[in-house]
Amino acid sequence: MSTRILLTGGAGYIASHTWLALQAAGFDVVGVDNFSNSSPEVLNRLARLSGQTPMFERADVCDAVAMNAVFERHRPDAVVHFAAFKAVGESTSQPLSYYRNNLGGLVNICETMTRFDCKRMVFSSSATVYGVPEKLPLREDAALSAVNPYGATKLMGETILRDLGAADPAWQTAALRYFNPVGAHASGLIGEDPRGTPNNLMPYVAQVAVGRRERLQVFGDDYDTPDGTGVRDYIHVVDLAEGHVAALRFLLDGKESITANIGTGRGYSVLDLVKAYEAASGRSVPYDIVPRRAGDVAACYADPQLARERLGWQARHDIKQMCEDSWRWQSMNPQGFV
Ligand code: NAD
Ligand code: WQD
Repeated sequence: MSTRILLTGGAGYIASHTWLALQAAGFDVVGVDNFSNSSPEVLNRLARLSGQTPMFERADVCDAVAMNAVFERHRPDAVVHFAAFKAVGESTSQPLSYYRNNLGGLVNICETMTRFDCKRMVFSSSATVYGVPEKLPLREDAALSAVNPYGATKLMGETILRDLGAADPAWQTAALRYFNPVGAHASGLIGEDPRGTPNNLMPYVAQVAVGRRERLQVFGDDYDTPDGTGVRDYIHVVDLAEGHVAALRFLLDGKESITANIGTGRGYSVLDLVKAYEAASGRSVPYDIVPRRAGDVAACYADPQLARERLGWQARHDIKQMCEDSWRWQSMNPQGFV
């Protein structure tokens, strides 16, 4: 029997790509989602891409009774816990809903896992745990801080898993600190479909390119970076998905717990990304320079050496492929998953 992996938040952007990567690697996958930030249409697309009906449960990860029933039915061997709210600005105006969903959900899943003696988890952490970077590239042993409630939930999430491992060595966890996930599956059938106005750069640029929005606002051109605009480590979502396969293999091989950056190690500016997107799409992306966005840092990029050495994983896609795949998804689905 093959190893069964439960993906919480399974219909989401990163989870849907990870679902395909796990199936391709021979794992059985079960998804759980309450569609608070995703569409059931994702499941139809996954069925088309994989040739099989996805095993899926509609449920809230904060619901203890529902999670118990999911574990009873599917008996997963390990969990990848994606389910969370992720909008930084919204977390500042609605902190309690972020603490409840992101931390309540994590604690509930961990309690359910303990009851079913399932003690391997890959956790979606974030480069946001580095707060304002002191030194670049960021290594995993850099200073950590939370600069908004969303970041606090990721920092606390890592702490919860570390404490669980200290209390019971049977727990093996991988906290993956994602940098800036972008791009889409090469088929163009799944991709990022933000609700309302996109908060993040690539989906905003994509919507300008496809004609859904008029102009991009570039948040500041007076940073201490080569062209003055913010620099980030964009990582193709398919590479990120493969990072989860590598982390699960690491845990299932009985290795210890790990906390690892998942990035490329290369930084690109906002204007670099706009130019790359224009080239990939053949569309122009008009923009205005506006004041800096509160809470943004000048530059943030990973040292990805630990993941390479310990997980045997490294990013393979470049910025051109990230933009081309994003554009294929955006142009094939101009209104997202309707
Ligand atoms: P997403 O919103 O597309 O996916 C999250 C999924 O979880 C959604 O389908 C949502 O409906 C579901 N969900 C949320 N709360 C739930 C609940 N209580 N019960 C059941 N399902 C629930 O986001 P994503 O970009 O795919 O992010 C996945 C994970 O990665 C999140 O934990 C996020 O914080 C983390 N992360 C994302 C980024 C990024 O920039 N996208 C960067 C670093 C970390
Ligand atoms: C990238 C660059 C902006 C939008 C966020 C979260 C982080 C992680 C990833 C979850 C910056 C600039 C953006 C726009 C712009 N998520 N920008 N105009 O802020 O690096 O990270 O997503 O864990 O926690 O904070 O990503 O895509 O929002 O911004 O000029 O309309 O693009 O200023 O320099 P960020 P982003």
